Amino acid sequence: MSGTAGNPLRDPRDRRLPRVPDPCALVVFGVTGDLARKKLIPAVYDLGNRGLLPPGFVLLGFARRDWDVGEFEALAREAAQQHARTEFREDVWRRIADSLCFLPGAFDDDAAFDALAAKLIELEGTHGIKGNAAFYLSIPPNAFPVVLKQMARTRMADNNERGGWRRVVVEKPFGHDQKSARELNALVDEVFTPNDVFRIDHYLGKETVQNLLALRFANTLFEPIWNSHYVDSVQITMAEDVGIGGRAAFYDSAGAGRDVLQNHLLQLLALTAMEEPVSFDAEAIRTEKLKVLNAISLPRDMERGAIRGQYEQGWLAGQRVPGYLDEKDVPKSSLTETYASVRFGIETRRWAGVPFYLRTGKRLPRRVTEIAVVFTKAPHLPFDATDTVELGQNQLVVRVQPDEGVTLRFGSKVPGSAMEVRDVSMDFLYGASFTESSPEAYERLILDVLLGDQTLFPRNEEVDASWRVIDPLEEFWTGRPPEKYRAGEWGPRAADEMLEREGRVWRRP
Ligand code: BG6
Repeated sequence: MSGTAGNPLRDPRDRRLPRVPDPCALVVFGVTGDLARKKLIPAVYDLGNRGLLPPGFVLLGFARRDWDVGEFEALAREAAQQHARTEFREDVWRRIADSLCFLPGAFDDDAAFDALAAKLIELEGTHGIKGNAAFYLSIPPNAFPVVLKQMARTRMADNNERGGWRRVVVEKPFGHDQKSARELNALVDEVFTPNDVFRIDHYLGKETVQNLLALRFANTLFEPIWNSHYVDSVQITMAEDVGIGGRAAFYDSAGAGRDVLQNHLLQLLALTAMEEPVSFDAEAIRTEKLKVLNAISLPRDMERGAIRGQYEQGWLAGQRVPGYLDEKDVPKSSLTETYASVRFGIETRRWAGVPFYLRTGKRLPRRVTEIAVVFTKAPHLPFDATDTVELGQNQLVVRVQPDEGVTLRFGSKVPGSAMEVRDVSMDFLYGASFTESSPEAYERLILDVLLGDQTLFPRNEEVDASWRVIDPLEEFWTGRPPEKYRAGEWGPRAADEMLEREGRVWRRP
């Protein structure tokens, strides 16, 4: 992967050396929000604990609270204590606490942004940040334009102004459809150069997702059979047992299609289906992903191949949970989907005729994300049919989370005198093979932003290509009531029928 931009002295061939970014400020807009508390601040702590923050690092919080830095420190400390991956240590915390700054202000408050611009200049003298700053937009999408305009007005995004680098991190969803994504992109482009824009899809920061590339391209075993000659179908599942929490305002206008399908699931599909990149740098990998996204086709029969669902009250882990329409702040007449499953195709020679079934949902029986490659049946079985009744199709399952690892399912002889063949599993578990635990997705991605490594961030063209796929689906779904499913079930009946019609079944992960 590339990423030597921040570290010219590092030998790009040695990827094991911990890379430490240049002195810099990480400015978080919306620092009191859920994402900052649960993911961003803990990730910064974990990086500090691993010695991966530069001396002179500054975490600068910006939010509409009349706070001083002490109040910000209390919030940040609690966030690190509760949500960091690594052990909480006072000495590590002290170093991070010393790096904290807080600036209060609303996004339309010119004076607050003038103060922020002045602060960044001041930090050059006090912390030696040399003009290096990353701006993290951990804010609702409708606030992006005003914040970007403030950055343009104060020239704080301009690399040429003070030297050093200026980068912006934009959280998903990037737009609401292709049109709004293009408008937003034009706005971001006016303020930052394309190489300085980091569009976050945190699934790409997950270790197991990156392992998909290692699995495919570091081994001999899989690539020869990774095509329509041997692959019957692919199932990509991202299931969650949680509901929508307190996010009704966002979720009800997004639904599972825009919240997850457009980004996480299409990215997983792209990594599963892409050709081998010519190298492992950002451009090469993103180019191959883009080709796949451009080749995706929608179901011919949308009615049967693009299913939406909405959960009703039900039982999960012994608890009664409310239906979507009874969640706080959800309109009683909402037609928003909390479940989506779609049969996609990929119009390339490699994948001709192979369906890619993608599904995601809230309030499903368990939290699990996996990619299952289902292979074709053996063309001939020299056994009695009764001896192979429990023999399914070979499967390679990449478990993204939890129980991170890879499982291979294949037929094996049952001990005994008969030639009875049954499916068994061979398991690779991260926890059993490696002693080091995986970095959290945000930990990895924030470090990459500070290092200027774009590899794990989708390019604008990928976002655009994803909306090309999602827009017609959303258009088809608009105004149609989603099919109900009970909380704690694996989605609506129509999703099962979609596969049954084609002689297949969903895996029960
Ligand atoms: C987010 C979605 O991008 O991913 C949420 O907006 C979802 O709705 C979350 O809950 C799941 O992330 P993870 O890493 O817990 O699988």
